[in-house]
Amino acid sequence: MKKKMTIPASSGDYAKDAALFQKVETVPGEQALYEMAKKELLSELGRLRKPATLIDFCCGTCEIFSRMIPEPRIARFIGIDTEPAYIDFAKNRLSGVVGADLVLGDAAVCNLGLSADIVLASSAYHHIEDDRKMTFLRNMIRHLKPDGRVIFAENILPEYADEAGHAAAAKLFYGKRIQETKALGMDEDVIRLLHQVMGYEIRREYEWKVDYRRFIEHLGSAGFTILKKTKVWPTRSEFEDPLAGDYVIVAEVPCGYIRGFTYG
Ligand SMILES: C[S@@+](CC[C@H](N)C(=O)[O-])C[C@H]1O[C@@H](n2cnc3c(N)ncnc32)[C@H](O)[C@@H]1O
Repeated sequence: MKKKMTIPASSGDYAKDAALFQKVETVPGEQALYEMAKKELLSELGRLRKPATLIDFCCGTCEIFSRMIPEPRIARFIGIDTEPAYIDFAKNRLSGVVGADLVLGDAAVCNLGLSADIVLASSAYHHIEDDRKMTFLRNMIRHLKPDGRVIFAENILPEYADEAGHAAAAKLFYGKRIQETKALGMDEDVIRLLHQVMGYEIRREYEWKVDYRRFIEHLGSAGFTILKKTKVWPTRSEFEDPLAGDYVIVAEVPCGYIRGFTYG
């Protein structure tokens, strides 16, 4: 008797493949994050009186900036990412955009030699290993002008106590994502990729998400004050922990907070 085989829609790893990454980001929570982060960016540009410098930490394919251009109020854009395939994708995307630069490097320790009016960290914090998260947050602050603001877009897991609890929280979070994606009849490849994200998260290999309490404590310890926080997913209460979900947070570092270094 022949063995029944399930053939996946495609193989491949979104961590190294920009096109697959774009695909997994089509799920509702991620799209809502992009749109809300863009809205907050536009609002920050409205607040500033001169053309802004924007740094995008862990820029990936530069999805948010790409959705905004042409935007004359952004004079300078610098995206930094460790993955060459993503940087190449972004370079192609932004070719011809005056003032835009892509840098291959580690956002936790880079020194870009300039400071920004706005720093974007979209799905960035959770890609930094737990023991480097604080270094990463402080590096963002070092690249921020005194009156600058940071826009975070983050996936926040249900509350957990320990390592085993973290794995269970990751399963809960991605269980809902996958259920919703199936209900919407989305491409099978998207479902496969969501399983891949969940696997990375459970193994703590490429995804290092945390719960709400840990995230907020980290921001506070680094010196951030939260100015605005918008939860964009789920739109109805889906988790036992009502704080789990996708957030866009606008934050600043109050005057007088000592920065490691500042530029121009
Ligand atoms: C989920 S993607 C987010 C990309 C983009 N910010 C967005 O919102 O679409 C996370 C990105 O972080 C990058 N990354 C992971 N660790 C990094 C590090 N230490 N420094 C810079 N980029 C990093 C990955 O290569 C990947 O492009």
